[in-house]
Amino acid sequence: MTNFSVGKFPATRLRRNRQAPWIRNLTAQTILTPHDLILPMFVIEGKKKEEKVASLPDVSRFSIDGIVKKAKEAQKLGIPALMLFPVIDQKLKDNGGKEAKNSKNLMCRTIKAIKDAVPEIGVITDVALDPYTSHGHDGIVNKQGEIENDATIEILCQQALAQAAAGCDIVSPSDMMDGRISVIRDALDDQGFINVGLTSYAAKYASSFYGPFRDAVGSANNLKKADKKTYQMDFRNSDEAMREIQMDVEEGADMIIVKPGMPYLDIVSRASQNFKLPIISYQVSGEYAMLKHAAKQGAFDFDTAFLESLTCFKRAGASAVISYGAIEAAKKL
Ligand code: PBG
Repeated sequence: MTNFSVGKFPATRLRRNRQAPWIRNLTAQTILTPHDLILPMFVIEGKKKEEKVASLPDVSRFSIDGIVKKAKEAQKLGIPALMLFPVIDQKLKDNGGKEAKNSKNLMCRTIKAIKDAVPEIGVITDVALDPYTSHGHDGIVNKQGEIENDATIEILCQQALAQAAAGCDIVSPSDMMDGRISVIRDALDDQGFINVGLTSYAAKYASSFYGPFRDAVGSANNLKKADKKTYQMDFRNSDEAMREIQMDVEEGADMIIVKPGMPYLDIVSRASQNFKLPIISYQVSGEYAMLKHAAKQGAFDFDTAFLESLTCFKRAGASAVISYGAIEAAKKL
């Protein structure tokens, strides 16, 4: 532990270094730039379509053409990467989420379209079955109502391979099945996708803050009152997050995600002290909605509070932040 008792008042006056913007800038330990941001987007079928997400203020779902436009805008602003989440037709959903493996599914078509039009931007894809399952869970449900770990991993591998073949840069498993990182890494390598990255949602908690996301991808109605507590982590735990991260690092993850974001900065901080690989924070849908609603009710100025929240992720130790407001933030920076 650093010794901070290096001075005594009045010889030491900490306010000296805060006197004016120039000295605050000179001494700032954390800098937020557009390069620190990742933009998540929801993609729908159709042409020239935009649908607002009622529970997620100022966020829309776009058809592929709209996603490509946003990708161009993000790239021009210096945002390095996008994350994609598809809204799948109810008729294509089943227990095993087999549409996830279809090489012509909405996700794969979107990856191709972005990579054709804006090859400079990184495309990160979600590996999990919840947008594709009739019950809204991230894995297969067996007769006892349990989420099958190992059988789910087989489908996740095929999903990841379809996304890699479509041209994504990084696959990002958000399903929280045990052991999936090494199996997906092996599957990618076997097929020659040695340069496709693997970013693991290693520390993902069962959280209420995912509400608007589940509306946005349309899994809320499938999931109904069910929760994901048998596979996502218990928010009372911190040591378990370190074990999850350690295992995923040993299994071959290139980067890890901690999720949700703002109430979980202790996890980011602890992870960044213990693991020397890039750690990404996800400011999830419910957090973004909270900031928007509070600002609309006059609690604070949105831009100021939002940029503060993003900067604090970096201060805690995150190398990047996933946020629905990445474009808004990049414009202000
Ligand atoms: C599911 C997934 C979720 C989010 C990203 N991937 C929701 C969930 O686990 O139910 C949430 C993101 C957000 O709330 O912004 N694989």
